[in-house]
Amino acid sequence: MRPQRLERLPEQYFTRLLARVAEAAAEDGDPLVDLGRGNPDVPPPAHVVEALARASRRDDAHGYAPFAGLPALKDAIAARYRDVYGVELDPTREVAVLPGSKTGLIEFAQVAVERGGTIVLPDPGYPDYRSALALAAAARGTLPLADDGRPDWDAAPREAAALYLNYPSNPLAACAPAGVFAEAVAWARGAGAWVMHDFAYGDLVFDGRQPQSFLAEDGAREVGIEIFSMSKSYGMAGWRLGFALGNAELVARIEELQNHVLAGVFVPVQEAGVAALTGSQETVEERRALYESRRDRAVAAVPGARSEGTFFVWFRLPDGLTPERLLAEHRVAVAPGEGFGARGRGYARLSLATSDEQLDLGLERLSGALR
Ligand SMILES: Cc1ncc(COP(=O)(O)O)c(C=O)c1O
Repeated sequence: MRPQRLERLPEQYFTRLLARVAEAAAEDGDPLVDLGRGNPDVPPPAHVVEALARASRRDDAHGYAPFAGLPALKDAIAARYRDVYGVELDPTREVAVLPGSKTGLIEFAQVAVERGGTIVLPDPGYPDYRSALALAAAARGTLPLADDGRPDWDAAPREAAALYLNYPSNPLAACAPAGVFAEAVAWARGAGAWVMHDFAYGDLVFDGRQPQSFLAEDGAREVGIEIFSMSKSYGMAGWRLGFALGNAELVARIEELQNHVLAGVFVPVQEAGVAALTGSQETVEERRALYESRRDRAVAAVPGARSEGTFFVWFRLPDGLTPERLLAEHRVAVAPGEGFGARGRGYARLSLATSDEQLDLGLERLSGALR
């Protein structure tokens, strides 16, 4: 049987969402407020932009980068993991440089599928995980999550090739519940599965919580990797820079795959990444605090809404009120929950990654609609 990878690709959720919002924006009515999209609105720190500009003025910065990434960049992320998350990594064996973490999500499935068996995804979960499985022609298993992000391990397959996890969670905006990483390691050992923890929102945690790396858990490195993104912590989403960290075998296989598919990351982007990771971390905290203050306004305006981290808020829609009605009648876009999995039906996700003015206008419309 042909694996039919492209035919199996689901409709790209965010492409569809953007198209629908653009269509609605063109219709008659008040200007639309878009709280559907999660595109970081705060620019990178000035010294990081300066590092990019400086490096790009050098003649020697424009050739192919070393495929495996700059050693200085691997050292810098390893030092950050030690300082911020208390995790010691060997930068030469346990760090792969990625052109954005989305690429790593796809690559992980390509590597893991070789073990045979299903790949297990959280429901609700980030839609691109499903794309990764389609491209790997992998069968999908499900790990149901409660609203607080707690997995129902009894409902997970007992044998699997791999598991995707993501805390703080997009779309649930839940931080890792106590004990969840230890449970994941135990489950992975029993199931013979690799684990990939998507840490894209690692630094965006609220209410005094500390960022929690999967790799700080005993045994995590034996069963898996963590994916770290520069997009959210440093506002570098368009720059495309991230890392796969942890299990040396998985890191080596991801690098091997990248040797065939990619040709490194633009050297000035990597050098600016070093500047971001080794320079002042003040803006990481400023960004976190900004999203927390927006989160406070959103949960005050939307009954039952919750968010412990990320720049999203997850809430249940009252019966009869759909995202489509919010868009068409109330001129506010949110991300429909069912796009994140069957368990997201009847929920919606709103994004805090927009201007304060737009957020407040959107919240006013939402609370009017929910009244
Ligand atoms: C949960 C999650 N993982 C990964 C990504 C991709 O991030 P990157 O910009 O590093 O590719 C995103 C982006 O929105 C995300 O929400």
